[in-house]
Amino acid sequence: RHSDVQAFRAKILHFTDRPDPTTGQGVEYFDDGVLLVEHGRIKALASAAAMAGQGFDLQQCRHSPEQLIMPGFIDSHIHYPQTAVIASYGEQLLDWLNHYTFPAEQQFADAEFAALAAQQFLNILLANGTTSALVYTSVFAQSTQAFFQQAEAYNLRMIAGKVMMDRHAPAALLDTAESSERECRALIEDWHNRGRLHYALTPRFAPTSTPQQLAVTGKLYRDYPGLYLQTHLSENRAEIAWVKSLFPEASDYLDVYDRFGLLGRRSVFGHGIHVREREIHRLAQTGSGIAFCPTSNLFLGSGLLDLARLESAGVAVSMATDVGGGTSFSLLRTLAEAYKVLQMQQQNLHPLTAFYMATLGNARALDLDTHLGNFAPGKEADFVVLDLGATPLQALRQASTRNLTEQLFALMTLGDEHNVARTYIMGKQVFRRASRKEDQQW
Ligand code: GUN
Ligand code: ZN
Repeated sequence: RHSDVQAFRAKILHFTDRPDPTTGQGVEYFDDGVLLVEHGRIKALASAAAMAGQGFDLQQCRHSPEQLIMPGFIDSHIHYPQTAVIASYGEQLLDWLNHYTFPAEQQFADAEFAALAAQQFLNILLANGTTSALVYTSVFAQSTQAFFQQAEAYNLRMIAGKVMMDRHAPAALLDTAESSERECRALIEDWHNRGRLHYALTPRFAPTSTPQQLAVTGKLYRDYPGLYLQTHLSENRAEIAWVKSLFPEASDYLDVYDRFGLLGRRSVFGHGIHVREREIHRLAQTGSGIAFCPTSNLFLGSGLLDLARLESAGVAVSMATDVGGGTSFSLLRTLAEAYKVLQMQQQNLHPLTAFYMATLGNARALDLDTHLGNFAPGKEADFVVLDLGATPLQALRQASTRNLTEQLFALMTLGDEHNVARTYIMGKQVFRRASRKEDQQW
């Protein structure tokens, strides 16, 4: 029996609630902690001293005193077909879509190509410590199929869906209202709530769907309880003007989606940078979320998200990379850019709040927190083992930190995937970084 239990001894951080940085409420941190995992789930978490006091033999632990264990990171908005167009030069949203994204997505008609791309994408996610995500596939149902197959092979908790778009994109990338309904139904039947997988209806954004297709989306959303919905909202000024001309009857961008019944607790709208007061109120009222994509919002010149305004109105805001508009798969880098975006607006992102958002906060925003997001007993053991000093500079900076907050701030500001030493899914190690010594031998 005992041999089924894995024990990890390290620095351990997780959140029991949204943290209050002044009191430390919501934060649980052990400078020398033990995490017990049994049958892929969290069995217990305590200080090493407390564990030893209960008669636990600390010799059983995998001991890494200099490393920090945290729940796996969660990415609330990312496009798997855009991995290879990350870092494409020179454009804002609409031109970037036409010049880079749409050509890249056409390759996903090929199921074998899509399967390989899905595998590469998931390997990169895991190397970045990201263990769950809300993922856009492409318009081709076989690319969605391929993604779910690969995610299932890794036993990941993933949410994904087929992109729906029936206008204003190259002909090769268009479906129709009818074909998208048929294909979505088949994918939902095959994959929604199968193992750790969930389906998200994914109309790309208002300009690329006819009213007929948005109506189909709303019907599907009502037909299958527990589905997710993801799309883009108010990212770019030219995009917003275009939506206004295409849907003159709507009172604003969000209202286009609202009219078709697409808002709700499991609806996640990417960006939402330029939303107006009425839209903010309506997002909050319906429990709809906004995915904050700072590296993308800066890279595509889209704008600065007013996080304080959204959160004070009660809108759930999650953290996202939005690769390939975003420039990194790393939630650490994403938190660093979020901090700077807020600095530009005289707002603040406390390091504890930042790491909460990347873990339990995003789990809550994606309605996954009954399964994961922290180390509560019984939750799925998806976690990451981080090096605090992955480079000489980081080691030097960490050596002069005085407390957890400073350590975390240096980690998010200087860190990236090189800080991810190992990644575990349901207690199983699925990624291990080659040590720096091994790197040197290469
Ligand atoms: N709006 C519509 N499609 C996309 C996309 O692929 N990326 C981003 N960032 N915005 C979009
Ligand atoms: Zn996006």
